[in-house]
Parts: sequence; C-alpha cells; structure tokens
Amino acid sequence: MERLQKAIAKAGVASRREAERLIAAGRVRVNGQVVTILGTKVDPERDRIEVDGRPIRTEAHVYVMLNKPAGYVTTAKDPQGRPTVLDLVASVPQRVFPVGRLDRDTRGLLLLTNDGYLAHRLTHPSFEVVKVYRAKLQGAISRQAVHRLRNGVLLDGRMTAPAQVRVLSRSIDSSWIEIAIHEGRNRQVRRMAQAVGFPVIELVRIQFGPLRLGDLASGNFRYLQEVEVQALRNTVLRRTGSR
Ligand code: URA
Repeated sequence: MERLQKAIAKAGVASRREAERLIAAGRVRVNGQVVTILGTKVDPERDRIEVDGRPIRTEAHVYVMLNKPAGYVTTAKDPQGRPTVLDLVASVPQRVFPVGRLDRDTRGLLLLTNDGYLAHRLTHPSFEVVKVYRAKLQGAISRQAVHRLRNGVLLDGRMTAPAQVRVLSRSIDSSWIEIAIHEGRNRQVRRMAQAVGFPVIELVRIQFGPLRLGDLASGNFRYLQEVEVQALRNTVLRRTGSR
C-alpha cells in the first residue's frame, strides 16, 4: 500500500505536490469514489485510480523476449487446454501479453509486454516491422521457387510484398532458407512456402525488428535492456508512407 499522491506521481501524471493539489481539489477518484484526504493509502496494483476521470497507469512497463518452443500456443487462454506462452513467463510479476503471434509449432523470438501502445504499433502493418525466419523446407528448393518467394506469391487473392530470401543449405530431402518479411499475415511463411511447392517442416523466428534471438535457450526468457526498448520505439516512430 502507498500514499495516493505518491501513486499518482509514480504514474507520471503529476509531481507529488501537484498530485496533492489534484486530490484536494476533488479531481481524483479511487474505485469510483472521490477522495480528498491526503495520505489515503492505495494499492496501485489493485485499486482503480482516476484523475479527471482518466485511469492512471500504475504499473511499470516491462518488455520480455521469450524463445518460444514448439507446442505452445500464443493465445492467452487455449480452449483446448494446451500450454500457452504465458505459462513460460509466469514468474514475470506484471500481466504481459504477446506482441503478435507465432503458430503453435513455430519456435523462436516472441516479445511480451504490458505496453499496449508500443505493442500495437509493432504489430500494425503500416509500420512494416521486419521479421526474420529460418525455415526448413521439404525437398531441394529450386531457383524458381526462391525467385517467387522474393517477388511475391498470391495468398487469399493478394500478392505478398517482396521478401528477402537466402538459401542456407540444400539437399535432396530438405533445404534451410532465411526469409525476411514485414507483413505478418496469418501463417504467412508456411503458406508462402506451400504455395511455391516446398512445405515448411520447421520454422524459427530469429529476429523481430532490431532484436535478434541470439543464444537465448529454448523456453527461457529475458528482460529487454533499455537500449533495446529504445531501438524498438525507434522502429515505429513513423508509418511507412509518411516518411
Ligand atoms: N509465418 C508462419 O507461417 N508462422 C508463424 O508462426 C510466423 C510466420
């Protein structure tokens, strides 16, 4: 529990002194009730605090990078009771949610945060945040298929945007490619590969915007450093088209 004016100040709405004035002026509500007594104790995690009718943010923002294993769904709750990525970050005290989605069988870099504003921008197509995947494909990928992946394939009646594609290895049975896309359409990499005749066997996301997965072990997570959060913010400063 902490003093109401301190909770307001910590949320960045006003200084401690200004918060005291707001309270005395009857502009602050706690759980719907106007509170004018300075020093009223509140629980910032539980109590709903509003200034001029607007809720204040009482939780610090946190940003987490998870190396998602296959077999975990990215939704918060799975109706079929399968494990979710939130099970893997259960020790994070704040209520975080995934930034975008990975298929159940896709592994790799997944961000989670409680910063709805940044998460929205990072997933909105107009910001064109680049995502890089390594994909194991069935069969020896042809040059023509690589060309098609690069130039765009038809999905749901609409061409995919140009992609960067590198062939990492190729054998009779399978090929590994690296593909960078920025659209994030549903199951995009799997459907693109299927469309050119080389279905995905394994899929790993190794990069999201400026962040790389690095050597984070499967199933582990780490908190982002301040410079990494800043780099994420910088990538979504401006929409494409307004540059
Ligand atoms: N593309 C896919 O097909 N699946 C993912 O999980 C992410 C991108």
